Amino acid sequence: MNPGIKVVLGVTGGIAAYKGAELARKLMELGLGVQAVMTRNAEKFVTPLTFEALTGSPVIRAGLPEPGDDPMPHISVPRSASLMVIAPATAGIIGKMANGIADDTLSTMLLAADIPVIMAPAMNPAMYANQAVQENIARLKTRGVRFVGPSAGEVACGETGEGKLAPVEDIVSAVKEALNLKTDMDGLNVVVTAGGTREPIDAVRYIGNRSSGKMGVAIASAALRRGATVTLISGAMDVEPPTGVAFTQAMTADEMLNAVGEAFKTADMLIMSAAVGDYHVNGRSGGKVKKKEDWTISLAPNPDILMEMGKRKESQTLVGFAAETERAEEHGLEKLRNKNLDVVVINDVSRKDIGFNSDFNEVTIITKSGAVEKIPKSPKTTIAGKILDTALAVRDGSKPRT
Ligand code: CTP
Repeated sequence: MNPGIKVVLGVTGGIAAYKGAELARKLMELGLGVQAVMTRNAEKFVTPLTFEALTGSPVIRAGLPEPGDDPMPHISVPRSASLMVIAPATAGIIGKMANGIADDTLSTMLLAADIPVIMAPAMNPAMYANQAVQENIARLKTRGVRFVGPSAGEVACGETGEGKLAPVEDIVSAVKEALNLKTDMDGLNVVVTAGGTREPIDAVRYIGNRSSGKMGVAIASAALRRGATVTLISGAMDVEPPTGVAFTQAMTADEMLNAVGEAFKTADMLIMSAAVGDYHVNGRSGGKVKKKEDWTISLAPNPDILMEMGKRKESQTLVGFAAETERAEEHGLEKLRNKNLDVVVINDVSRKDIGFNSDFNEVTIITKSGAVEKIPKSPKTTIAGKILDTALAVRDGSKPRT
């Protein structure tokens, strides 16, 4: 599941349940992790398989958990999420939540949840107008529940009035607002590289490095949350690529050069956070080399992907990393100039508490115009946001966005 933000999508029984499926898809496209929870009646309109296929995770269904399942999903699921969205929300679920009734998985989860809740009601207009429903909604609003819609129009039963599920785009906007998702990268094509390359020595051995891919994945997730279309090209990683990115695996520097070169043609921004091996093995063996006393391997240089993209650069914003163990700023600045970068992110790879394989990093970000920002030790997700802020500012400074 997406390492980023998780949303619980509660689907209750009504014709509009199929729109819940469209909503799940749109939320996934934002790079969010989506955990669908369905009521018994919802399953009469749409099958759990639909949501499972769209979200990539098993649906949590009404009734008691089966042996082997999480025994207390009503507690654990909202705790691991940032938001609950109930769409469509029937008069039933609204009434249950307003009155503290917990008689199935979703209603129990709503009581246990300590996270923001959005409800998108859908029902017959007469039901929606009913004083009991209106009082329940008013009560929930005072407790901070946000309502989106319903909108007016013809509902499934043929009657006309207020009761239609709000447009899916409106629900998505409410989710973005509640999660504070930005839209400042809307329309941008961002290519991110992550992880470490592996250069084969023979059929079973390789030369690799300690990159975990966490920094690149954090950048890709952050760009997704800000509205970008993201291509993630990675070597070996310890983490899963976020849902919502176009993912390509490129294990060697050569493969990565080809993949990045292709993606670069239509990119607005390239962020090279991959640890690309500088050498490959000369005359590698196709089979497995037998054990021997000494073994001398000859290495030949790999292409410098970033340097190459610096030469091909037209309007793309280029962000590179500089992994340094000494005189970090000086060497980082050299890389910025030599590789024709717009931004360089310098990190000290000699420290054990940050960088490779850690969830934390401490970096200095320098732009081509010489602005220097030192970011103290912070989670890689925070650093990712800062890198994007700077890249965007440089981009907007050089070419005002329309
Ligand atoms: N990089 C690249 N292709 C390579 C090597 C590095 O595209 N063959 C990119 C990395 O993704 C990073 C930047 O160049 O964004 C700097 O990588 P780094 O390993 O710090 O430096 P090198 O250029 O390899 O120089 P050195 O190893 O001498 O420090």
